[in-house]
Order: sequence, then structure tokens, then C-alpha cells
Amino acid sequence: MTTYLKDVWYMAAWCEELGDGLLGRRLFDRAIVLFRTADGVAALADRCPHRFAPLSLGTKADEGVICPYHGLTFDAAGQCVRNPFSGKIPPAARVDSWACIERDGIVWLWGGSRETADASLIPDFSVVADGPNVRVVRGYTLLEAPYEFGTDNLMDLSHIEFVHKGSFAGNGVIFAGRHAVRDEGTTLHSDWWMPGVKAPPHTFGIYPPEMDCDHWLDMRWNAPASMHLEIGACPAGALRDGGVIAHQAHILTPASATTTHYFWATTRGHDLESVETDAFLRQLFAQAFDEEDKPIIKAAYENLEGEDFWAAKPLSLGIDAGGTRARRKVEAMLRAEAA
Ligand code: FES
Ligand SMILES: [Fe+2]
Repeated sequence: MTTYLKDVWYMAAWCEELGDGLLGRRLFDRAIVLFRTADGVAALADRCPHRFAPLSLGTKADEGVICPYHGLTFDAAGQCVRNPFSGKIPPAARVDSWACIERDGIVWLWGGSRETADASLIPDFSVVADGPNVRVVRGYTLLEAPYEFGTDNLMDLSHIEFVHKGSFAGNGVIFAGRHAVRDEGTTLHSDWWMPGVKAPPHTFGIYPPEMDCDHWLDMRWNAPASMHLEIGACPAGALRDGGVIAHQAHILTPASATTTHYFWATTRGHDLESVETDAFLRQLFAQAFDEEDKPIIKAAYENLEGEDFWAAKPLSLGIDAGGTRARRKVEAMLRAEAA
């Protein structure tokens, strides 16, 4: 049985997915129902303790959520507050609940007990939030592999040249790049620096393709698998700050032992109102993540045929150090939580 980290923030949804209704979603192998209340977002176990109906099929009320089967009402803390058949509420009429916080367009859910939820530990994704000078395109896909296999993929972008021939591949510039992985407390960085290369394709149409540029791909990781990618380019030798920069979110949340929610977002500071650019990016990312990453991640995972990742003795090439370190950090955190 897979053990999941408890004391971390999991991305549960994009804020706009929530709307006014009930959203049922599997997170770390628990069926959970999410909904908005007057005070924020509530997350409850999606199983009524009476005859086990999914609460996410019920209706939202002022006090909380009404079970679709026989009408028990549960509040945002999971306590049954109304029994339509009696004034008496059985003591066991309650469901588990989790603390949630909406920030940067993201619904974060604390995996541990509500009392220990520490908002200061939410990783910073303010650069992918909506703002006056930024356009954000958001998306979602479901990976058919454990989340660590998605982390391996994202912390090792050397795969771009091979997997993303139909989308992001950049004429081999990554082979000339320098890659560095470094620790910063609980944060990990996996950064590529590619000085003096031709302007990278797609995002940076702002620079003509023949122009000499410095190009970078800086990935930041926080447990369990919340990643921020800064993609940048500037004229060769110029200051990075003056270049063209796109911020991306690549946030993975385990759904089950073998499936992973993949929430992605990309920003731009130009063509802010262009629905054509939105559509182009949406199509490009769907191609990249749904048609390129997803099948190879699934195939690699299934190719282990159930064997443990480390027991299979994965070869180390250096480029994969980010994924390895992330796996080791999660393992150390799991050991610490177990102790
Ligand atoms: S199953 Fe929910 S009230 Fe009966
Ligand atoms: Fe990829």
C-alpha cells in the first residue's frame, strides 16, 4: 500500500474548477468532495457514514452538503448538523475533513490534521496567478503512473529533445547547456543554462530565430511534487531580468498509487488579450503533455511490471539528479512522519 505524505500542501483543484457546486476528486487515495462555503473552501471525505453514498452527488446548502441518499447534512468540518428524520444526531455521524486555502488561483489542501495546517508552507505560485500584466492559460491531465514518475519527467527536462519533437524540442540547444541541481532547505532546484544559442522556438517569437540568445529553464520543486518552471531568454550576454520570461506551474498530486493529477499553467506578458495565442498554447500544451509526456511516462512505469523503482537499479546519467533528489527528499519526509 502506498503511503502518502501528510504534512504537505496538495493542490486539489484550480479555483475555477470549483464554481458553486460540489467537486468530487480522488486525492492520495481518498475520495474527497470539495465545495465553497462563506469562509473559504471545505474538503470532506466523499462517503456518507450512513449507507456510503458519495456526498459529491448531493446538493450544497448554506450549512454544508446534503447527502443525496437520505438527506443527512454535513458542515464544512464534517460534522452532521441535520438529520431529516429526527432531532437526534448520532455521535458517529461525521466524516473526515481537511483544511483548504485558496491562493494564486489554486485550491491547496493540507494532507494532515486541520490543527497542524501551516499556510506559510504553501509554495509560492504568485507568478502564475492572474494579474493586470499577465495572461494565464491553465490545464489539466491525468497521468497513468505514480506521481514520482511525473517528478522524474519534470525535474529532468533533457527529455524535451526526444519526447517533444512535435512541440517544445529546441534544435538540440539543451545538449550544449549546463545543468545544476541544488538544495535550498525543503526546496529543490533543477536548472538548465544555455548561453549563446539561437532563440528558442514558440514562447519567444519576440526574438527572431537567428538571434543569439541566452536561454534558461529553471525548475523549482517542493514536496510532494509542486513545481514551478521559469523559461527565459535574453539577448546573449544581456541581463536576464530584461529578457522574455514565461512562468509555468507543473503541479502533481497523487490521485491513487498509479494515477496522478497533473495541473499545468503557463503565463505570458505579451498578446495579453489574444484568444488566438491562448488557443495556440492550449493546443501546444495538450500535444506536449497528453500526447507526448503521458504515454512515455505510462509506458516506462508499466515496463517495471510492478518491480520497485530502486530495486530495479535505475541507471544514473547526472541529468536525472533532480528527480532522484526529489524522490530521496520525499522518502526522508515519510520516514520522519512515520517516526
Ligand atoms: S447514505 Fe447518506 S444519509 Fe443515507
Ligand atoms: Fe515533457
